[in-house]
Amino acid sequence: MNWYKIFESEKDANREVPERSIMRLKIKGKAISFAHTKHGYFAVDDECPHLGESLSKGTVNYLNEIICPWHSHRFHMQSGTECKGRSGDLKTYKVEIKEDGVFIGMDD
Ligand code: FES
Repeated sequence: MNWYKIFESEKDANREVPERSIMRLKIKGKAISFAHTKHGYFAVDDECPHLGESLSKGTVNYLNEIICPWHSHRFHMQSGTECKGRSGDLKTYKVEIKEDGVFIGMDD
């Protein structure tokens, strides 16, 4: 697994992506939704497994789900599963907060 630094510190991440918000990132050409919830920071594929809408245009809820703005499918951000099994799973990525920054882990 390779780790990609996305912020220099947790403080920077919190400033750029406050709780209950989502930022679209591109890492190695791959679009990622980076979300901040009360449970922490999460990274998932930005493309909705249903019909491809950008999940970063959606919202997050108190159940730690990311909600697609198009047809409201809800994906758990740790498991990637859709809450009612209406579409395929969402790919998830590890997020680590280290002394020298915030990183996303991706298999290349
Ligand atoms: S495109 Fe996301 S729910 Fe349909």
